[in-house]
Amino acid sequence: MALHLGAQYILEHNVGISDAVLLHPLTEEAFIENIKKRFSHEQIYTYIGTVVVSVNPYKKLPLYTPEVIEEYRSRNIYELPPHIYAISDEAYRSMRDRNLDQCIIISGESGAGKTEASKVIMQYVAQVSGKGREIDRVKEQLLQSNPVLEAFGNAKTLRNDNSSRFGKYMDIEFDFKGDPIGGVITNYLLEKSRVASQIPGERNFHIFYQLLAGADPTFLETLKLSPKPENYGFLNRSGCIKVDAIDDAKDFNMVKTGMEVIGFYRTEITEVFQLVASVLKLGNVEFSHRSNADGTDGCDISNTGEIAEVAQLLGCLEQNLTNALTQRTVEVKRDKVKTDFSVAGAVYARDALCKAIYSRLFSWLVQRINDSIKVKTEQTRKVMGVLDIYGFEVFQTNRYEQFIINYCNEKLQQIFIELTLKEEQEEYIREGIEWIHVDYFNNAVICDLIEKNNVGILALLDEQCLLPGNVTDKTFLEKLNQTCKDHPHFESRTLKKNQSDRTLPHDAFRLKHYAGNVTYKVDGFIDKNNDLLYRDLSQAMYACRHNLMKKLFPEGYHKALDTQCLVNSLRNPSQKSLKRPPTAGSQFKASVQELMKNLLSKNPNYIRCIKPNDDKQSGTLDLEIVKHQVRYLGLMENIRVKRAGYAYRQIYAQFLYRYKMLADETWPSWHGDVVEGVKLILANQKIQQDEIAFGKSKLFIRNPKTLFDLEETRRERMHFLATLIQKVWKGHVKREHFLLMKRSQVVISSRFRGFYGQKQYKKKKAATLLLQCCTRRWKARKVLAELKHEKRCQLAATDIQKHYRGWQARKLLAELKHAKRMEWAARVIHKYYLGWKVRKNYKPKFRRIAGPKVARFMVVALKRKFLLNVRDKLPSLSPVDNKWPSSPKMYKSASDQLQVMHHKWRCRKYRRKLSEAQKYTLREKATASDIFKDKKVIYPESVPRPFKGDYLNIRGDMKWKKIHSLTNDINLVFADLVHKVNRANGKIVQQLLVVSSQAFLVIDHRTMTLKYRIPIEFIEKISLSPFQDKLAVFHMKKPENGDRFAKKGDFIIGNEHIIEIVTKSSLCVKNKTNTMPEISISPQCSGQFGSSAVQVSFQQGAKGLEPGIPGVKVTRKKHLMLISEP
Ligand SMILES: Nc1ncnc2c1ncn2[C@@H]1O[C@H](COP(=O)(O)OP(=O)(O)O)[C@@H](O)[C@H]1O
Ligand SMILES: [Mg+2]
Repeated sequence: MALHLGAQYILEHNVGISDAVLLHPLTEEAFIENIKKRFSHEQIYTYIGTVVVSVNPYKKLPLYTPEVIEEYRSRNIYELPPHIYAISDEAYRSMRDRNLDQCIIISGESGAGKTEASKVIMQYVAQVSGKGREIDRVKEQLLQSNPVLEAFGNAKTLRNDNSSRFGKYMDIEFDFKGDPIGGVITNYLLEKSRVASQIPGERNFHIFYQLLAGADPTFLETLKLSPKPENYGFLNRSGCIKVDAIDDAKDFNMVKTGMEVIGFYRTEITEVFQLVASVLKLGNVEFSHRSNADGTDGCDISNTGEIAEVAQLLGCLEQNLTNALTQRTVEVKRDKVKTDFSVAGAVYARDALCKAIYSRLFSWLVQRINDSIKVKTEQTRKVMGVLDIYGFEVFQTNRYEQFIINYCNEKLQQIFIELTLKEEQEEYIREGIEWIHVDYFNNAVICDLIEKNNVGILALLDEQCLLPGNVTDKTFLEKLNQTCKDHPHFESRTLKKNQSDRTLPHDAFRLKHYAGNVTYKVDGFIDKNNDLLYRDLSQAMYACRHNLMKKLFPEGYHKALDTQCLVNSLRNPSQKSLKRPPTAGSQFKASVQELMKNLLSKNPNYIRCIKPNDDKQSGTLDLEIVKHQVRYLGLMENIRVKRAGYAYRQIYAQFLYRYKMLADETWPSWHGDVVEGVKLILANQKIQQDEIAFGKSKLFIRNPKTLFDLEETRRERMHFLATLIQKVWKGHVKREHFLLMKRSQVVISSRFRGFYGQKQYKKKKAATLLLQCCTRRWKARKVLAELKHEKRCQLAATDIQKHYRGWQARKLLAELKHAKRMEWAARVIHKYYLGWKVRKNYKPKFRRIAGPKVARFMVVALKRKFLLNVRDKLPSLSPVDNKWPSSPKMYKSASDQLQVMHHKWRCRKYRRKLSEAQKYTLREKATASDIFKDKKVIYPESVPRPFKGDYLNIRGDMKWKKIHSLTNDINLVFADLVHKVNRANGKIVQQLLVVSSQAFLVIDHRTMTLKYRIPIEFIEKISLSPFQDKLAVFHMKKPENGDRFAKKGDFIIGNEHIIEIVTKSSLCVKNKTNTMPEISISPQCSGQFGSSAVQVSFQQGAKGLEPGIPGVKVTRKKHLMLISEP
């Protein structure tokens, strides 16, 4: 079966008989044959009822995968092929569902597979129980305790590469849901002698090799270790260091991780390894012989380096350690005397110390793990215990350890017999069930031989140990021979019955164990049972500064060696070491009894492990070896009792409670007699009479199948009931739901109807309102029409009345008018008549007198009218307002005169309002008008422009001020840039002309330097053309006796404001001389340029000239200066 192919596959391929109870014929041979057959097909498990018989396959089988676990989960034990999982599941479910504490007892020889079986159980429980962070942590801690304890407590032996050298019972604790919440581990008697020596081919405990192979070099250095196991006396003497199947380095890492997971502190881990290292190193300490002066033997440590390193590791004084290893204190009559060890004594003491350190370290580890995994809450718990204790051992030489181990196995066998053979058979009888007794060997007598108070071997050993004086193993044997000589299971060479037995040495005794005869050498029994360590050694260990070491040797606190310890000892008032400690044997006996009590309080499940051969070979099954085990395990008796007996029993009440649903009468409750109820159920299930038996208090069922059928039916029934409950519940829920829906529907429909009605009502209301409103409107319209008609009628009547009245009034008016006209006409006629009469009467007189009077009156009236008209319609006071009221023709001239008068009057009025400056300006303008009006073309355009005079604003100019301060020309009249015509060639240059009341000043406008000054009175005449040009010729007076300026002659100036220049200079001349200079306006003029007389002629019609200034072209030809202009 290379791969796991599913339980179905295994069922179909089942080989032999999986439950030995069904064997036929029932013989030992057939049973072994069956086991062999199955074994050869790798079917290593076989049932005897509910007991699992397991044969060690010595190879990995695909039987332990999570998938297989899933298949076995919650299945009946016989549904699937035999497996530890099946029994684990049964135990787990009984614990969880029926609240029965369980224990699984795994027994068998060393190497039969007990430890593996216990791991398989743990694996199963871990997988099927609940999940969760805390639960997983607990599971992990429980699982990790295995590699740690195996490292420290297992070793390679000849029978088993991973032999447990201690007994272990582990309680896994669960909460009510079946989830693991913690555990307690109990360890039993570690085989500590292994620390110091092993038989050839075996190894020391794994941890030593693991530490050397797996720890990193620096760590090893701090532990002062070398990585080679060959260097250590405790490891190299047996000749076995490496085991093929074991990877020490890998295991070391697992151990370290395991310790971390469990919750060891780092310092604790280091301390543990320091102790392991110191054990190794102490093992290397060697002694050399010394003869003392008093003739006694003494010894010295020959390799002091080693002891120094150990002292460093443990934090103690090297000398103290050396002393403790080479001397001991002996009390002689209350005096303490130090005596030296011989070399052999020292080696013994050294080994004893190492064994003590190691075994105490191991117990501390278990305790420490327990501290971590213990349940921390106070909740109720259910327990499942797994017992994996060393198997029965028979060696070439068997010593105290084997004796103890085998005693333990005897006790386990006892329990097995008690529960499966004896108790069961007794129960049948007690319950009054017909029973044919099955014979079996009850090993109680062997147990008694060993453990009985006062006379048992253990008691005798203790007695010997307590005896004062020279007690040796030999005296112990003598005592044994004396006391047990008649016991059928005890043999000794000194006894008559065995005197001829040469296989039995003289220093040994033989016990006929249930599993075979074992010869024990008494050598070392007393010592090992005493289990005493020299006090000096305990004290030396207690004196160490090493925390853990101190804890391991509390008895060393008395008479501490150094002061530090003294101080510590004061703090630690333990008085333990004063008392003699119990012997190893009595301790073990007590713990085994405790264990038995514990196991008996639980529901037992068995796994019986069988070793197929002695060579750890897979695939081979040695019939002899198996037969031997089958015998001493009492498997055949087991089968017989099972076969004859009943597979299952239960108290009636419990049975009724569990299966009451299988009969209509008992479900859901039965109030009658319990047995009657049970009978009803059984009858209902049609179970045959020979299948069951009615005990006094219990019901017995012969065949497990019947029980499983019952369970199956119960499951189905439960299913049915669950469905029924579900159905009823669902019906109830649905009905509730339906009722709710119905109520809701009523509410909804009522609400809807209400809403609908409301809506309809609103609609109707709206329609009614509309109708009402229409009707009212119609009615109102009707009324309105009537009213309107009435009104119209009224209006029409009024209209008619009005028109009628109008007509009447007009008629009356016409009549009145007519009457009036008639009256007026009569009056006119009368007037005319009177006039005619008067004229007729006074015609001659009128012509003479009245005519002129009337004519005068008429004339006066007309004049008056004309004048009043003029007065009322006078124009404004503005001199330029030309309006004047019209007048009759006959007053035309009067009107014109009045107009002139009025104009003059308003002009005078206007003038009066003027300032002096305005008056002067007006004078200038008037003068200009006199000069130029209708003479010069450009004059009209100059009229509206005011004469500004100082166009360049030079009055404030500093340079001008400088000039006029020299010339006294303070009254500046005009200043502007002018075009001056060069008299020689007619070229035009720009100069600054300033006219003051005194003179003409020509100034260089760039430098503001005076070029020349012509007094104003020198100007005699000014000539201008009537054309567009803006030039004027200024004629100078004839020069008189060296008149410098006059000599220069006339000059021609052109400027935009030429009208202003001419006007102003004329006025200045007039002011100065009281005569106006002559102003000629004609196209020709004659000038005097220096000494030559020149004819200046203005000509119009030149082309290509720009208008304005200069706008002219001046050419001189001898005595003719021609000024052309456009
Ligand atoms: N079910 C198994 N499948 C495979 N190998 C097993 C099985 N049981 C035991 N072995 C092998 O046998 C060896 C000894 O088993 P172990 O359980 O340590 O024996 P015990 O505890 O009874 O002394 C194990 O190291 C393992 O190699
Ligand atoms: Mg084991």
